Amino acid sequence: MEILILPTPADVGRAAAGVIAAVVANRPEAVIGLATGSSPQGIYRDLARRVDAGEIAFERARGFALDEYVGIPQEHPQSYASIIARDVVEPLGFDPSLVQVPDGRASDLDLAARQYQAAILAAGGIDIQILGIGTNGHIGFNEPTSSFASRTRIKTLALRTREDNARFFATPDEVPTHCLTQGLGTILDARALVLVAQGEQKADAIAAAVEGPVSAFVPASALQLHEHATIVVDEAAASRLRLTDYYRYTYDNKPKWQRTH
Ligand code: GLP
Repeated sequence: MEILILPTPADVGRAAAGVIAAVVANRPEAVIGLATGSSPQGIYRDLARRVDAGEIAFERARGFALDEYVGIPQEHPQSYASIIARDVVEPLGFDPSLVQVPDGRASDLDLAARQYQAAILAAGGIDIQILGIGTNGHIGFNEPTSSFASRTRIKTLALRTREDNARFFATPDEVPTHCLTQGLGTILDARALVLVAQGEQKADAIAAAVEGPVSAFVPASALQLHEHATIVVDEAAASRLRLTDYYRYTYDNKPKWQRTH
């Protein structure tokens, strides 16, 4: 894994955007795995800036959202379909017909999950997957004890996740109890992963994911099994890592030709 520790959340967004921009510059029809939540917002802002500056275009790129709540209407402002449309598709200029979100309103959720998984395969797989991390170490909505072999499926949200996400809803009870999420196996199938985290509240999860044992108890530790994973964190999220000197030294000595950020 490449671990990048940067001074501020804005630096995190810029650096991770650089990784994605390099993929799209090389392959304008790239398939991008899109995360929601607050963590990747800086990435989307920086990519939108690059689009506005004419440096990059997403009109031929394809997108697959990482997850979606079950049971809230698509037009609900907190559905991931709404968030992806608002924060990603519009500002980055994706063709909406090339961006998919799991259908959390499907009458047959199991079928919807399998169809979503098949659609990712049919698109040739994901070139680069954007990830945040939950305070309990989840990625997507793969809660602790999710199988590393899992593919897109229905999951029950952990109580901690429902509490963490209550800030987006009028009342805690409004937070859905279930979701459809790409599995850890789906995420590991992507050709590259970029995970971002900011703030002290993510420090334990980052330390466990990066330096702890590979364990389904910490779903983000699955990144240790991926050959091309970049983890971009600010100082606060890095504050419980032990090998920070080595990560900084590695970054400072990274050859120019390898740099995207
Ligand atoms: C959310 C999402 C994840 C996200 C995580 C952290 O509920 N399903 O994809 O990475 O939890 O959220 P945030 O970035 O808002 O802290």
